[in-house]
Amino acid sequence: MHVAHLSLADFRSYARVEVPLDPGVTAFVGPNGQGKTNLVEAIGYLATLGSHRVANDAPLVRLGAERAYVRAGIVRDGRTTLAELEINPGRANRARVNRSPVPKPREILGLLRTVLFAPEDLALVKGDPGERRRFLDELLTARAPRMLGVRQDYDRVLKQRNALLRTAAMARRAGGRNASLSTLDVWDSHLAVAGAELTAARIELSTVLQPLVDKSYDVLSSGGGPTLLEYRSSIGDEPLPADRQLIHDALAAAIERQRPQEIERGVTLVGPHRDDMLLKLGPLPAKGYASHGESWSYALALRLASYELLRSDGGEPVLILDDVFAELDARRRERLAALVAPGEQVLVTAAVEEDVPAALEGARFTVAAGEVRRTV
Ligand SMILES: Nc1ncnc2c1ncn2[C@@H]1O[C@H](COP(=O)(O)OP(=O)(O)OP(=O)(O)O)[C@@H](O)[C@H]1O
Ligand SMILES: [Mg+2]
Repeated sequence: MHVAHLSLADFRSYARVEVPLDPGVTAFVGPNGQGKTNLVEAIGYLATLGSHRVANDAPLVRLGAERAYVRAGIVRDGRTTLAELEINPGRANRARVNRSPVPKPREILGLLRTVLFAPEDLALVKGDPGERRRFLDELLTARAPRMLGVRQDYDRVLKQRNALLRTAAMARRAGGRNASLSTLDVWDSHLAVAGAELTAARIELSTVLQPLVDKSYDVLSSGGGPTLLEYRSSIGDEPLPADRQLIHDALAAAIERQRPQEIERGVTLVGPHRDDMLLKLGPLPAKGYASHGESWSYALALRLASYELLRSDGGEPVLILDDVFAELDARRRERLAALVAPGEQVLVTAAVEEDVPAALEGARFTVAAGEVRRTV
């Protein structure tokens, strides 16, 4: 698939901008702070309903404006779909498909698939487990939009259960007995069911990603591998197979074991919200050991592996590489360029034209002072 037209109104630094796009490679070139990332961020937002830079929507709306609009014509198998989003910070967003309102913005998920790599992705390697959980969950959702529902179910059960545990913890401290413990049993079984589905899906995903990450890392680095992804479950130290029933039973047993500590502390201590995916480089964990360059290559390898995986599922995603090439030496630039050049649509940003490898022939836009102008 590819984006044939991007139209923004009051998004970030843009009052209005219209960008017609072709399939193949397109590079946005311009000095720092001119709005290159803002363009690709908008495309990523349309695909995922989230920004790779901020957790809430307020910064996406142009200073002084009330709401932002992102519209794109998306071409898939020769047919164009017009997807539109109205971003209303603090209130519900609205979406339209082919000019007709849809009941929920999430119905546009799946119309456009993107894989976006940006410097912020260094956090995948160096950051907290939550970064890696989000990476896995977002990829799960991109592969199967129904996984969004599974995640939301789990989050809801977790929230309810935590509320109950907090009440129980307070009652305990006050010296009283707690009447809510029988309700807790019900939430325990909900947690085990929803948690097992999410955990099994994540384990399966890390298994299929593994060889793809290793291959991409090999292209980007000069040795130092192999890379290894190890899903670390809060259930225990033993690696788990991606078997839902088995995980369900192990999780249910762990929940039972942990109950006294949970009531003491008032929070849920086991489940996929406490899991991590360990990224190993050679014999060592990348976090805390890998160099800056190695961490950066690892993060990019995770994104390239996601791209390969989504591609092999069918419905080729749009690949977005924000500020990637400046970090690489000439040899690795060429290798990465050769790897991504055949993609149906590849959008690249760079501060200077020389950072875009020659092998990435295609359209060029200059981005300066809020204007996006095609030059080649
Ligand atoms: N909500 C907003 N309202 C107005 N301007 C904004 C808003 N959000 C960001 N900006 C402006 O957009 C600019 C940043 O744009 P962007 O991140 O796209 O730059 P860039 O071209 O990618 O730069 P670099 O090469 O440094 O990555 C900044 O000048 C910032 O002040
Ligand atoms: Mg940028």
